[in-house]
Amino acid sequence: MTGKAADIGLIGLGTMGAALAANIAEKGFRIAVWNRHDAVTREFAAAAGPLADRIVPAATLADLVAAVRPPRAVILMVPAGPVVDQQIAALGPLMARDDLIIDAGNADFHDTDRRTAEAAAQGPRFMGIGVSGGEEGARHGPSIMAGGAEQDWARVAPVLTAISARYDDTPCAVHMGPGGAGHFVKTVHNGIEYADMQMIAEIYGVLRDGMGMSAPEIAPVFEGWNRGALQSYLIEITAQVAAATDPLTGKAILDVILDTAGQKGTGRWTAIEALHLGAAVPVIEAAVAARNISAALAERRAGEAVFGPAPHRLGASAPTRAVLEQALIAGKILCYAQGFAMLSRARDEFGWPLPLPDIARGWRAGCIIRSAMLNDMARALAEDPGRNLILAPFFADHLSRAIPCLRQVVALGAMNGLPVPALSAGLAWFDQMRTARSTANLIQGLRDFFGLHGFDRIDGATGQHGPWAQG
Ligand code: 6PG
Repeated sequence: MTGKAADIGLIGLGTMGAALAANIAEKGFRIAVWNRHDAVTREFAAAAGPLADRIVPAATLADLVAAVRPPRAVILMVPAGPVVDQQIAALGPLMARDDLIIDAGNADFHDTDRRTAEAAAQGPRFMGIGVSGGEEGARHGPSIMAGGAEQDWARVAPVLTAISARYDDTPCAVHMGPGGAGHFVKTVHNGIEYADMQMIAEIYGVLRDGMGMSAPEIAPVFEGWNRGALQSYLIEITAQVAAATDPLTGKAILDVILDTAGQKGTGRWTAIEALHLGAAVPVIEAAVAARNISAALAERRAGEAVFGPAPHRLGASAPTRAVLEQALIAGKILCYAQGFAMLSRARDEFGWPLPLPDIARGWRAGCIIRSAMLNDMARALAEDPGRNLILAPFFADHLSRAIPCLRQVVALGAMNGLPVPALSAGLAWFDQMRTARSTANLIQGLRDFFGLHGFDRIDGATGQHGPWAQG
């Protein structure tokens, strides 16, 4: 360790922590690092190459704290959950009241709110930031969704902005509001990530099971779509995953990967929080449910044994690739519209700034859901942040063309036993959102019939009851 103080500290040199620390050092900041296994810290410093003179390996937590210039800022890159609380407890006594702990993991925003409140009572200060982009993003430019007090953000913004991804020179590092606001936005990001991936997987299912295409045949389809309106990181890597070969068997890797999807919980949190907020995110809910169903492999096998496999093959009714592309475009717009509407609901409910156009801008590069369409979404949200995205003329126009294709794909799926739950949920939501006279009048009638809950009349009278109330 040399005498010169570090600008910032970082705890946890796993894949993401190591990548973030190297990114920080590369941008010219001096960073002190500590890992609970000292060998990991030393290996990281030894492998840092030209960045080594900006990296200060610390053997103990106390050394780490001592190495950072006060008022200190220390980033936690440790697993979400109790480990974060343990780290805060261990750091607290070593830090000054005015020092700052930054949790950059995928925390539940309720935990971040709690930790922020606890920190305010006793110090050191605390903020939670969402970091997206996987290892590659952490190393070369993630999208950063920051929560926390304005003054804490101002303190660390120079570092976090410098290491973030850039889109047309705009840094993808946005302050969302106090407390858990940053982790909340990251949670919604992940919900959208689940939905985006699920819809892509459903279209892959139509190509594979409905149209009998092999993975190597499917790869160029996605590659082509990545040059159009669907241009995005997830479509790009879908083409790469579909094209990859398993070194063990020589088969397409997709054909040897077990079809049970894992999850760490952020997509589920999005669905749960949406329900609490009274926001409708059925595409995200369907994506979470699809992962849960995918995990029930034994039951699915038993189901196929009892009912037989679905017919699947579409034959002459197979949609064109252009129809599938449009269906995916429609699904994507609908899903993002739901995600942004949920953010808007949270902004009202929690009183956070949650700047929607800036959120869309911040997602244009660095994060997993980065896509060309987010630039158009940022523009539409800047025009009118209070309007649902499907009503923005640019997207209304897109949808007018794309919805018939989505309808065709969902209908073919239903008729041929091809599960397309997220796309179906998107279509059903769209059809509800464009129906001025819904069927909830019957729901109200039934509620009043069995429980005298009352209803409003179309002539404006409120708190009314039906004729059944008289007897
Ligand atoms: C990101 C990702 C990242 C991680 C998810 C995966 O934005 O970089 O969202 O945070 O990939 O946590 O979540 P699941 O394991 O639940 O799919």
